[in-house]
Amino acid sequence: MGWRCADVIYTDPPWNPTVFASFYAYAGGTQTTDFTAYLSNLARLLRNVCPRGTVAVDFGNPYFPAMVSALQEFDGATYHTIAGSYGAKMTPMSTWVGTFGRVNPAIDGLQPPAGLHGFRISDWVVGSLVTPKTRFYDPCAGALGFPILAIKAGTGVAFGSEIIPQKLATGLAKLARLGFNVSRCELPQTGLR
Ligand SMILES: C[S@@+](CC[C@H](N)C(=O)[O-])C[C@H]1O[C@@H](n2cnc3c(N)ncnc32)[C@H](O)[C@@H]1O
Repeated sequence: MGWRCADVIYTDPPWNPTVFASFYAYAGGTQTTDFTAYLSNLARLLRNVCPRGTVAVDFGNPYFPAMVSALQEFDGATYHTIAGSYGAKMTPMSTWVGTFGRVNPAIDGLQPPAGLHGFRISDWVVGSLVTPKTRFYDPCAGALGFPILAIKAGTGVAFGSEIIPQKLATGLAKLARLGFNVSRCELPQTGLR
């Protein structure tokens, strides 16, 4: 892939077993793990890819404690939990912001201005974390919403991975509309199941 470590991860993984299974089916995969094992695999991936940087994980509140437990099993230290909301009904959600195995008081108290909602919160957090030297990564990149936020915020490099080819194609089309020269290669499965 040409890189090993990310400095900043911002990601929005599947938030519950139903959504997890539906993404998997959409991708044409055969589900071999349950949601709990998936969260653990995801937390391990985040720790391995971003051992010294800052990680932010969006999650729906019902399973947020399960995600946090998985992160803590891999030495994830929470610096901040941002309370947010999404959708027309302003459904509550949370964003875990932390590091693995070390302290970073610089991100303690990271708090978007009052009144932000949904994607605008992500935009604010990504913009607060990236610099021109940042290697940004989203392992659940979907249509590349967060990598594109990071690019617009001035990150040095943005990586994303996504298991549903159609979603990735939508993201690549967005990048092309933004003026990027887009090409595509297929990578072996990461074992994130
Ligand atoms: C809630 S969506 C994220 C949407 C994204 N932020 C965007 O801007 O489009 C979660 C994404 O994680 C992806 N994903 C990555 N790895 C997965 C896995 N092992 N199982 C299920 N979904 C996975 C899904 O396909 C889905 O696109």
